[in-house]
Amino acid sequence: MSVREEFDTWAADGRDRGMEDRHWHTAKHVLARMPVEEGETVVDLGTGSGYALRALRETKGAGRGYGLDASPEMLRNARSYTDDSRVSYVRGDFDALPFATDSVDHVFSMEAFYYASDPLRTLRELRRVLRPGGTFFCAVNYYEENVHSHGWQENIAIEMTRWDRQEYREAFREAGLFVAEQDNIPDRETEIPPETAFPTEGFDTRAAMVERYRELGTLLTVGVAPE
Ligand SMILES: C[S@@+](CC[C@H](N)C(=O)[O-])C[C@H]1O[C@@H](n2cnc3c(N)ncnc32)[C@H](O)[C@@H]1O
Repeated sequence: MSVREEFDTWAADGRDRGMEDRHWHTAKHVLARMPVEEGETVVDLGTGSGYALRALRETKGAGRGYGLDASPEMLRNARSYTDDSRVSYVRGDFDALPFATDSVDHVFSMEAFYYASDPLRTLRELRRVLRPGGTFFCAVNYYEENVHSHGWQENIAIEMTRWDRQEYREAFREAGLFVAEQDNIPDRETEIPPETAFPTEGFDTRAAMVERYRELGTLLTVGVAPE
């Protein structure tokens, strides 16, 4: 199944908004850390419902936002939720970004980067489109140290890349990006039931669920394009 087919189905049955609700718990902290200044251009890689650009326009005065996605249905939904002429949702693939060299100030990506068919190529593309000093804020919940995410591949037909923290840093550097920061952003909002509720559908023990959300959370790696 292609990225388009998979995520068109998700968009059509409302999972775009479902993801937004869940990802917002940590994505908002990542967005708050981005050094976006008034008037700057931001790309959201794998935009889904497009929430990140709406938030960056509202909170930081980003001048222009482009939400890139391979799924026309995701894009259609994102456009329908956004009443802002400074935000566009564009169809494209992580393999070949439809942006000019040195034309983008910052890139955000939440729970999307690991779907790239060739992640190193995507990083090189990001390095190309970012202006010197531009940043890439890459947030993922699917990564090696998060053992609770390892089963996710079984439920999706697209091949996912499961790097660890070190592999993220090495790949960023290999693509020509400095690694400015790497951090785990805890999800403090997903409700964790009392001990007596376990095992649940997702977790054998309460301790495992606490580890998944409160300790491991979202892995953030921040790359900076050299001057
Ligand atoms: C799990 S969703 C996350 C959406 C959103 N960032 C969020 O936080 O809710 C991943 C998104 O990335 C898009 N995507 C995945 N692989 C892609 C690729 N190779 N090129 C472009 N978009 C892709 C999907 O269509 C989907 O909308």
